[in-house]
Amino acid sequence: MANDLRDPKMERINNAKLAQDFIEEQVEAIRKQVGNKKVLLALSGGVDSSVCAALLIKAIGSNLTCVHVNHGLLRKGESEQVIKVFKEQLGANLIYVDAVDRFLDALAGVEDPETKRKIIGKIFIDVFAEEARKLNDVTFLAQGTIYPDILESKGIKAHHNVGGLPEDLHFELVEPVKFLYKDEVRVIGEQLGLPASMVYRQPFPGPGLGVRCPGAITRERLECVRESDAILREEFAKAGLDKKVWQYFTIVPPFKSTGIKDNKRTFEYAVVLRAVNSIDATSATVEEIPYELLFKIRDRILREVKGVNRVLVDISPKPVATIEWE
Ligand code: XMP
Repeated sequence: MANDLRDPKMERINNAKLAQDFIEEQVEAIRKQVGNKKVLLALSGGVDSSVCAALLIKAIGSNLTCVHVNHGLLRKGESEQVIKVFKEQLGANLIYVDAVDRFLDALAGVEDPETKRKIIGKIFIDVFAEEARKLNDVTFLAQGTIYPDILESKGIKAHHNVGGLPEDLHFELVEPVKFLYKDEVRVIGEQLGLPASMVYRQPFPGPGLGVRCPGAITRERLECVRESDAILREEFAKAGLDKKVWQYFTIVPPFKSTGIKDNKRTFEYAVVLRAVNSIDATSATVEEIPYELLFKIRDRILREVKGVNRVLVDISPKPVATIEWE
């Protein structure tokens, strides 16, 4: 469709002036599109939905309701940051839904990666739809769709967004950043005053830590992933690698191995470290992490993460591997 394509004459937004012009233009356009009607938005805390939310708050204030679903597969501190930035700093109308048990109970014992993704996607829609039905005067749904989403809507894995809501919920869409590339969305986010940790956040899959806890997810192993990921992120930030490396995270496979602690045998999980560089995620090379930093991360993980006795490094490029393990 012609109106789904970016105007080839549109300038690449790469400075504060162009960002400010875009913001003013979009604020006008949003006000014109929605008038006094109410808008709903699923706020994950990722850069796209965050920038979209910040634009709508600027344009229509409390006529926007944001729903943040905690599915229990978010990184450490992520939900707290969404609440702090949007509710406390930007004064957003934010509904926080704690759906952790619902997701984790449904995922218990499910090993197949695609089935896991489908369950996560379906419950996400169910939870969001339930919240939407409670607010009966909403006309519009805002989505942080960006231009690459439109261009590459056919992924290899089952990616999920809020598309596919049940039929009784028909909203008109508001998609203020749909013609922007990721780097442009970041410039807009900065101009809107969102924190750098949100604007320059590394890519994070919709199914979250669920794909980094391969096989059937258990709460115990999920905690190992979340805690080790937090340590890796903290040490990468201290070393200045957070701005240089595309994606870095940990995986905790579903097996245990023997170790020794306080003169006793242990039988515990292994944490895998992965750091890759990429331009558009279709291929990826492995970031060489200095051994000194690796040892520091290893020591902290072995000391601080309960139930772990081994640390490994994944050095596989994409292809032959994919970036995530599932
Ligand atoms: P793979 O593992 O296919 O990942 O090399 C490519 C990029 O996509 C991210 N990814 C996802 N993002 N929903 C998402 O929103 C998903 O289900 C999903 N799976 C993978 C991955 O983190 C990497 O940046």
